[in-house]
Order: sequence, then structure tokens, then C-alpha cells
Amino acid sequence: RRVVKVGLLGLGTVGSGVVKMLRQNSEELAQKCGYEIEIQRILVRDLDKKRGVEVDRALLTRDVRDILDDANIQVVIEVMGGEGETRDIVLESLLSGKHVITANKDLIALHGAHLHHAADSQNVELLYEAAVAGAIPIVRVLKQSFAGDNVREVMGIVNGTTNYILSKMTQENASYEDALREAQALGYAEADPHADVSGLDAARKMAILASISMRQAVPLADVKLQGIEGVTSEDVAEAKALGQVIKLIGRARREGDSIEVSVSPMRLPEEHPLAKVNDSFNAVYVYADALGEAMLYGRGAGEMPTASAVVGDLHAVLRGRKFAAGQLELIARWA
Ligand code: NAP
Ligand code: HSE
Repeated sequence: RRVVKVGLLGLGTVGSGVVKMLRQNSEELAQKCGYEIEIQRILVRDLDKKRGVEVDRALLTRDVRDILDDANIQVVIEVMGGEGETRDIVLESLLSGKHVITANKDLIALHGAHLHHAADSQNVELLYEAAVAGAIPIVRVLKQSFAGDNVREVMGIVNGTTNYILSKMTQENASYEDALREAQALGYAEADPHADVSGLDAARKMAILASISMRQAVPLADVKLQGIEGVTSEDVAEAKALGQVIKLIGRARREGDSIEVSVSPMRLPEEHPLAKVNDSFNAVYVYADALGEAMLYGRGAGEMPTASAVVGDLHAVLRGRKFAAGQLELIARWA
């Protein structure tokens, strides 16, 4: 079997999950993809840090050129976060003919169109299923399964951290601060959790979902957002007394020729399906002309659920026509 070499950018919560999954499922994946997957190098900041997974220290590097300049690396998995330096790294990877998989909604919400253009110019893949709603396969469903339909609205809970906080406040009377600390310890929160609680992370995801489902780029700056920082224990208790539950809801709607996207806390009746989505789970409703409505539900954050989406994308890359075409080009170049 042929070997595919992968460069991993980041070995935090998600990166560790990816390494674990590739180890645990190596034989099965090789059978499904036709390739053995080998992690060639891993970019980190701190070579000596204790990690959630053991890796050969020789794989670790602080120099991204070890990945970018290695022509044997055909696929780059970006799970380091950020959008400045990271955009440059991802762009260079794509332009040098490497397929890229990323979990980074910040990057895609801000630079998705530009990066797609670069990927198309080199006939390589840019996949980001893990960037929206963790393990839920919403990006693929919107891009492929519902592509023939006319999507009018996408609505749901797309941030695991805030849903965890609101669930704990509602179900266990936990304080906002304690619940946030727990969400961080469980690996759900962003490196800067302000992105979660301010609604920005959900706004990034809704901008991506709106852009891919309604075929019109929605700039992040156009998303109206309000987070959960102002939601108090009293608000939660008051809603509860009225048979309601507070949830952070993202909504993207076609309004005539324009698309309106918003993120804000909303009170839902207890019996509403979204009111029953708790812990770090996410759920997304899609409304389309022919489809009617569909709801997708699953873990929205965390090490292994997110790794599942990343490794699913890796499988898609290796089974895809673009990768196969690249292999032929490679053989032709060496022949
Ligand atoms: P994390 O735990 O903070 O891990 C980030 C990793 O990237 C660390 O290993 C860090 O190195 C490395 N890194 C960051 N900046 C770097 C730089 N400039 N140079 C070299 N290495 C760098 O983050 P995470 O939770 O895994 O999230 C990673 C990405 O996945 C983010 O884009 C996030 O939004 C996205 N995501 C996360 C989740 C989740 O549930 N956590 C779910 C979906 C998507 P050191 O370890 O040496 O510091
Ligand atoms: N911080 C994000 C969340 C990670 O809590 O949903 C998953 O995108």
C-alpha cells in the first residue's frame, strides 16, 4: 500500500484527538482509503510541553518550513487556530499543491473565498467540516446533499461552550464562571474563550453556513451578534419559571435579495427541540423549498468529536478525484 505523508499544524485538544484517531483506526482507514497515513511532522510552539498524547519528539518542530518545504507532505491538517500567520501558512500550502484540512472557523469565515480560489487554482482540496458544529456533518450536507435545493434558512445552536454554560446554569444552577471554567477544562472553549461567550465563534460559523448554503459570500462583519456575557442566573431562573430555556441561537435567513445573519440569546419554550439540546451538543435546522426541514444533531466541540470530522475530511481527500489526479501527476513527474 502507498503511504501518504501528512503535516499536522498544532497538537492541542484537536491535534491530539487526530493523532489518537489515526493510530486507533490506522488499518481500517488504510483499507478504506487505499493509503497508509503517516504523520511526517507536527508544528507546535513548545517542544517540551506535556501533551494529551505521546508522540515521538523527533516529529515535533517549531519551524513551519519543515512542513511547507517538504515535498513529500501531500496533506496539511491545520488545527493550530488563528488567522494571520495561519492564513499565510494555509495559503502557501495550497499554492504549493498540498491539500488542506482545517478546523479553523476564524480562518474560513474571514478568508474562505480567497483560500478556495487558491485551492481551485492548484486543483487541491480545502475541507473544513470540523470548523462548524464539531462532529455534525453540516458543511458536507449543505454543499452536497442539499445543493440542488433552495435553502431559505439555517438556524441552530453552533457553539458547544456557551451551550454547556447555559445548560449547567439551567439544569444545575451552576454559576456562569464555574461552568465556563469546566468548559475550558473539557477542551470545548477557544484559546481565548471571549470568542465563545461574546457570540463571535457562533457568528463565524453562521457566516460560513450562510455563505455555503445560500451561495453568496456573507462577510463576518455583517453578522449581528450578541453573546451570553449578560445572561445572569436570575435571567435563567426567570425563564425557567415561565417554562422557557435560554439558548444562544444562530440564524441565517434569505430576505429578498439579501441574507440576514444573527447570533443572540433567545428564550425558547421547554418543549422546543432546540431547548432539549444540552451539554456541548449542537443542533442545526435547515429549511429549504423541496426538503421542507431537517435537523442535524451531535457533539459540537471537544477532542474526539472534532477529530472525527477532521479525519472524515482526510478520508474524503484521499478518496477524492483531486488527490488521485495529483498522484498521477506525481508519478508522471518521477517517471
Ligand atoms: P489548542 O488546544 O489551543 O491547540 C493549539 C495547538 O496549536 C497547540 O498545540 C499549539 O502549540 C499550536 N499552535 C498554536 N499557535 C501556534 C504557532 N503560532 N506556532 C506553532 N504552533 C502553534 O486549540 P484546539 O482547541 O485544539 O483548537 C485548534 C483549532 O481547532 C482552532 O482553530 C479551534 O477553533 C478549532 N476547533 C476546536 C474545537 C475544540 O473543541 N477544541 C472544535 C472545533 C474546532 P503548543 O501546544 O506548543 O502551545
Ligand atoms: N469553542 C468552540 C465551541 C469549539 O465551543 O463550539 C468548536 O467549534
